[in-house]
Amino acid sequence: MRIDLLIHSAAQLCVMPSVDGKPQRGAALGELGLIEDGAVAVVNGRILETGKTADLRARYRADEEIDANSRCLIPGFVDPHTHLPWAGDRAGEFEQRLAGAAYMEIMDAGGGIMSTVREVRRATIDELVEANLPRLEHMLRYGTTSAECKTGYGLNTAAEIKQLDAIRALDERQPIELTPTFLPAHAVPQEFDGRSDEYVDLIINETLPAGAKWMAEHDQPLFCDVFCEIGAFDIAQTRRILQKAADLGFALKVHADEFEGLGGTKLAVELGAISADHLVCTPDEDIAALGAGDTIAVGLPGTPFGLAHSEYTPARQILAANGTLALATDCNPGTTWNESMQMVIALGCRYMGLTQAQALAAATLNAAYAIGRGDEIGSLEAGKQADILILSVPDYRQLGYRYGTNLVETIIKKGKTVS
Ligand code: NIG
Ligand code: FE
Repeated sequence: MRIDLLIHSAAQLCVMPSVDGKPQRGAALGELGLIEDGAVAVVNGRILETGKTADLRARYRADEEIDANSRCLIPGFVDPHTHLPWAGDRAGEFEQRLAGAAYMEIMDAGGGIMSTVREVRRATIDELVEANLPRLEHMLRYGTTSAECKTGYGLNTAAEIKQLDAIRALDERQPIELTPTFLPAHAVPQEFDGRSDEYVDLIINETLPAGAKWMAEHDQPLFCDVFCEIGAFDIAQTRRILQKAADLGFALKVHADEFEGLGGTKLAVELGAISADHLVCTPDEDIAALGAGDTIAVGLPGTPFGLAHSEYTPARQILAANGTLALATDCNPGTTWNESMQMVIALGCRYMGLTQAQALAAATLNAAYAIGRGDEIGSLEAGKQADILILSVPDYRQLGYRYGTNLVETIIKKGKTVS
């Protein structure tokens, strides 16, 4: 049979198999589906088969062959939590934090998220696109082939919709597929200072309906996310916003337990959210809830690292409770400007107690499920998109072990070499 592409002679091919079409949860996390001297057959941008090089070579004639030359093949990384697109930078705030200021303190004083909001409100869609293309290019070069992107730096209806339009434009301009999330509840904007319930009313009565209209116009599903935190939105406000969002047809996500455990994770599970993200100060009962539900815990170890905090997502406890864990960068100009999922794996191994195999599954297969795309991407299973990385090394265990050096050599998106 003729096929479009055969990548062969991989020292290791990590399939990262799903578990009957579901993510790898609890003790099952870290299943590699490892094939030595592996090959992958690609037709029409999709994976036809993976197997041993000799078997696939005997079966297929390929229009194009890539010799992986005894290196390691893995699925493209999926980054299921980023805050692209933004404008400007906050290097000065990093300096303030190094001098002792706390992240939420800077935000309370009108900086933090609000300072990026001022920049984003000023920017045109084209300016947002131009500013964020280089960030996506870095992400791609470090192996991210699909990512989630959030609004949340507009904080009024028009500017939030402008960010959605910018995400859409960015999606068309470069190879990484972008999944949009609507986050008007990222912070209480300055003009609503001391009147957070009124801002919540505005979100519910105006901004979410505008987002729902955008969804319908563009035939593009959206997640709705809320930053549930002291100084942002409390648990009652988070519930109101998410319930309204669910009624309007949004799928749900929650920023929970980044600094304080307010019950956001339990609420996420109760409302059937696809993911609860951050989960640093997560109470035990919320961890137990993760094990009983299908909400995916997204660990963002770049964030405590970026803030020089010492507490990280309690991954082992979450897995022991039979929870499902994914990893993401949280790439944003405030807490963690890091485009590399390889760096996230390195941090996850050290500070969340993950093995390389667990971190790899959390950064590929489970990450794909965390943005609702587990049927299409995240593993090298037959039928999925051929989003494939060829590493510069033969052994997947070099991921996480080494950091600061890019170990991704070749990036294949939908069967085409893009970098
Ligand atoms: O996930 N915590 C809220 N949002 C981001 C930070 C965004 C910013 O500081 O600009 C986060 O860490
Ligand atoms: Fe975040």
